[in-house]
Parts: sequence; C-alpha cells; structure tokens
Amino acid sequence: MTFTAAPALSGSVTVPGDKSISHRSLMLSALAVGESRVEGLLEGEDVLATAAAMRAMGADIERDADGIWHIHGVGVGGLLQPEQALDMGNSGTSTRLLMGLLASHDLTATFIGDASLSKRPMARVTEPLARMGASFTTSPGDRLPLTMRGACPAVPLDYRLPVASAQVKSAILLAGLNTPGITRVVEPIPTRDHSERMLRGFGADLNVEVEADGTRIITLVGEAELKPQQIVVPGDPSSAAFPMVAALLVPGSRVTIANVGLNATRAGLIDLLREMGGSIEVINPREVGGEPVGDLVVTASALNGVEPDPARAPSMIDEYPVAFIAAALAQGRSVFRGLEELRVKESDRIATMAAGLRAIGVSVEELEDGIIIEGSGGALLAGGGSIATKLDHRIAMSFAVAGLVSRDGVTIDDMAPVATSFPTFIALLTALGAIPHPRSG
Ligand code: S3P
Repeated sequence: MTFTAAPALSGSVTVPGDKSISHRSLMLSALAVGESRVEGLLEGEDVLATAAAMRAMGADIERDADGIWHIHGVGVGGLLQPEQALDMGNSGTSTRLLMGLLASHDLTATFIGDASLSKRPMARVTEPLARMGASFTTSPGDRLPLTMRGACPAVPLDYRLPVASAQVKSAILLAGLNTPGITRVVEPIPTRDHSERMLRGFGADLNVEVEADGTRIITLVGEAELKPQQIVVPGDPSSAAFPMVAALLVPGSRVTIANVGLNATRAGLIDLLREMGGSIEVINPREVGGEPVGDLVVTASALNGVEPDPARAPSMIDEYPVAFIAAALAQGRSVFRGLEELRVKESDRIATMAAGLRAIGVSVEELEDGIIIEGSGGALLAGGGSIATKLDHRIAMSFAVAGLVSRDGVTIDDMAPVATSFPTFIALLTALGAIPHPRSG
C-alpha cells in the first residue's frame, strides 16, 4: 500500500481500546468467579489471541451485539490444562503475561507464535518464573515454541527487575496471585502500571511503595480472590500516537482525538512532542475505568530536533518509531539514546526504522542503543522508497504517517500486521482526509 502527500487533516476521531488494558481485562476477568463485563475492548488480533487462550483454559468469553464482552471466570487457581498449543500470534504481551499466570497453576502448556514472536527473548520471564518453581523447555535462545509446567504451590519471589519491562513485572505479579505468601517486585525505573491498578480494582491485596529515588516496590499477597468487575477500556495512547504525529506534520491540520488514555506511565510521547514545539491540547480531562483520560486537540506545528532523556523511555516505549518520523520532519538533529529495548520488540525497531528512513531519503546514523536523525525542517521527505515492515504493526503505521508528508509517496510492503493493534487505522486516516491510495503490485 502506498501513502502519499495529504491535504490538511481535520475532524474528530477515536482510536480503539488500550491494548495493555484489554489483555489484562480478559486475563483478570477469567480469574474472577462470576461475570465481568468489558466495554471498549480492543478487538485486534493480539487481544483476540489472549481471549482464545483464556477460553482454552476454561473461561467463558462472549461478545454481545453491542460490543460488550462478557467473561465468566474460573477463579484464581482454576485454569484448566489447554488441550492444544496456545497460539499467541504476534503478541509478546499475551505470551509473557500468560506464562506468569500459568506459572502457579498445576498444568502444562505449549506456547507458539508467528515468525516475529518466535524471535523474541523469553528468558526475562522464564528466569524469574523458574525461581518460583515453574519449569520450561524452550527453543534455542530461550525462544518460542516453548513448553512450560506450572508449579502448585509456587514459591513467592522477591525480584528486582533487571530490565524496565511492564511485561516482566506483570508476569511475576500474575504468578503471585496463586502463590501462597507475598510476592515482591522492585522496579527501579517505573513502567506502565495497569497491572497494579487493575489487580487492586479486582480486589487483590496489592501495595505500592515509592522510594525517594523513584524506585517502586510492589507487594502482592498471594492466594488472592478476585471479584468480577465492570471495565471501561480507554482509547490506546499508543494508537493515538499515529494520528497525533500525522496532524502535527501535515500542514494546516487540526484534529481531535477523543477518549485517549493519559496515564503518566504512557504519556511520554505527548511531553516529547510538546518539547519539540508541537501543539497538543488536552480537553475534558476525566477518569474512565480508574485511568486518566482526555480528548486531544492537535494542531500542525513546526517541530525542533530533540535529545530526549533516556529515563523517559518506558513512558513512550512503543511510540519511538513514530517519534522518529516526527524527528525526520523537525528542524535540526535529534539524538535518541538508551533504547536497547527497541531491538527486541516486534522487530528490531532501531534497525528497521533506520533502514526505512534511509529508503525514503532521511539521513540517519544507527547507534547500538538509539539513532541520530537529521530533520528536514518541515520540508517534504523524498519518499519513493519501499518499507520492509518485518511483521511489525508500528513500523507499518509509522511509515504510513511518513508517506503523508512525502514528495513521492511511501510504499509499505505489508499492512496486515496493523490488525494486531489498530484494525481501524486505514478507516481513521480516511476519516481525517488523509486518504491513502492503495496500489496493486
Ligand atoms: C506492554 C509492555 C511493553 C510494551 C508492550 C506492552 C504491556 O513491553 O512494549 O507493547 O502491556 O505490559 P515491555 O514490557 O517489553 O517493555
């Protein structure tokens, strides 16, 4: 699909439900006895993989005609042995969180995934979960396909996260749910806190202590009993990032993105874009489902290059690809560092972005832990290149945005991965007047 220079974008749009919260809604509801209801669930492939896995382990999960999801859970400790391998598709979050959940259940499960997921490291979860008593047979390099045997009872863990990862933190906390005693996770660099908020919302005895240096100490009392909930999932800030950057870059644009989650552990991109000179106004701030939410009014702006503080990385970890597109249109040079985690996402996002940016005429230098980007100062990118997305939805969407500000258009080899997180992406760009032009071949 080829994306070409767009006229000014305008209108008001919404983005689908938050992916992180959607996964956790299904998992926690599946562990609560009784009916939970979820409104605004992201109906993307990643979340549907979680739903299928929870069904395969005994939860009853249905979507009604109004789009509300109804989940009847089995209770903490009540998951059943799945009869077939759990197919996680492209979803690292499903895989790592479920490995945690199953680590304290008396069952054996095999995890499989697509070519992208099968390349991603799993030692970061198998190592702590093995300490809790689970055992794993992995493919070389601690990768999928992988078979695990849960331990029941598991042993509570006191663990300091060696990598800033909400998936690892969540895997351990979820394992702690069915583990007698206190599971403790020490998080030196804060990451998204949806698991903590939601576990508490479901009635778990969870406490968070913040030390003077910002280190978070999370304790969870095991053998928890979760109570069914009514959940409203806010719009995903990681999906809102694409129309947000598009509206800043396409001259004359003014776009409202309604109902966007603004949890501070997720809002780093907004801070960064504002620092670059972007006009992003939050209106109607409110709370939805225990999360801060607002509507964003984004107006096209001239941007300046930046050298963002690496400490910000966890709060915008999934937004770097599109932030690199913003930097490519900024005035001057941007230097991004401290981003080694980007190398183990759905693709190696430093390498994939560097190759793609070069292919469309941007001058970049790839670093081991980041990238240096020379901005065009607002001039259209050359374009003309073709982008290899490597089964990575955010690479596809980032370069689609780049196409909207390119002279010769940007061709994306494969838009199919977008269905993992943002099935309405093309419809949303069309609604804003960006109107991409599909071309065959
Ligand atoms: C997620 C955590 C992040 C993020 C991913 C979703 C989560 O991964 O990149 O898209 O829902 O916990 P890491 O834990 O690997 O940083």
